[in-house]
Amino acid sequence: MFEELKEKALREISEAQDIAQLERIRVNYLGRKGILTEQMRSIGKLPPQERPRVGQLLNELKQIVEQALEERKKLLEIEEEKKNLQKLWVDVTLPGAIKKIGHLHPISRVLEEIETIFVSMGFKVVEGPEIEDAWHNFDALNTPEWHPARDMHDSFYLVDKLLRTHTSPVQIRTMLSEKPPIAIVSPGRVYRRDYDATHLPMFTQVEGLYVDENVSVAHLKYTLEVFVKRMFGPERRIRLKPSYFPFTEPSFEVDVSCGICNGEGCPSCKYTGWLEILGAGMVHPNVFRNVGYDPEKYTGFAFGMGVERIAMLKYRIKDIRDFVRNDERFLECF
Ligand code: PHE
Repeated sequence: MFEELKEKALREISEAQDIAQLERIRVNYLGRKGILTEQMRSIGKLPPQERPRVGQLLNELKQIVEQALEERKKLLEIEEEKKNLQKLWVDVTLPGAIKKIGHLHPISRVLEEIETIFVSMGFKVVEGPEIEDAWHNFDALNTPEWHPARDMHDSFYLVDKLLRTHTSPVQIRTMLSEKPPIAIVSPGRVYRRDYDATHLPMFTQVEGLYVDENVSVAHLKYTLEVFVKRMFGPERRIRLKPSYFPFTEPSFEVDVSCGICNGEGCPSCKYTGWLEILGAGMVHPNVFRNVGYDPEKYTGFAFGMGVERIAMLKYRIKDIRDFVRNDERFLECF
């Protein structure tokens, strides 16, 4: 009689999926109006001789059901705890969140190298404004109105100023604020309306200026030779070719011997054996006059180099735009 009831109760208990469901089963059998409770109550209606036996059976069944409920509850509690833990689970074998450590941009590195070389030769590092006026950028540098660099198409003009097209105005600023002997290098950004594989609208230059009595082309050549050998290697040579800048006379284009063919001629140097690296010359007497220096007393040399160009030659980079693309695959190479 109770076998069927027992099996049903035990099956329901073993199939309960959570504690709430188990509780409903408990109430269904053992609650105030539960199946077993009702059965207990109805014992009184049985013939007296049957009451003890049925009572005993019912008590046993009650105990069995209570025990099954208790065991199932423990199991479900463990499972629920496991589920909660899974929500907080941390897989300690996963790779961590790696914080990449940055480093200087190749241009900053080359710039520091250039500065270090010139500082070791007694040059001082000075800076000037990127927003210049036409007088410092052009007029004081003996750059006449007709010069193409002054063209609106070549420069970025602001209302009454412009973004400097070269670092040469720092020559003027330094000569106005200091007295000879002057030996400075001036690094910084310059701006021109150019953009292709070898030109950026914003790029970096280093200006050099040495003013004293009796400064000659020999000083210029020696200084640049030392620079080139330290920058590119002791086997490299330089050569000066005549050139033109309004603010120097004579003016030179300075070449460095090709590092790939050692001056023999190869595709890299277009079979000339030489690579152009900077412009230079002896400070024009008119520039001295413009800053109130006596050109009979003072002479000097000046040079200006493009840092991106130096970096391209040093690291054999083909496209100048790689410096500003912010592609980590490129930047990680330095
Ligand atoms: N300022 C020149 C340029 O930007 C370079 C230069 C500097 C040439 C100093 C001579 C002397 O092209």
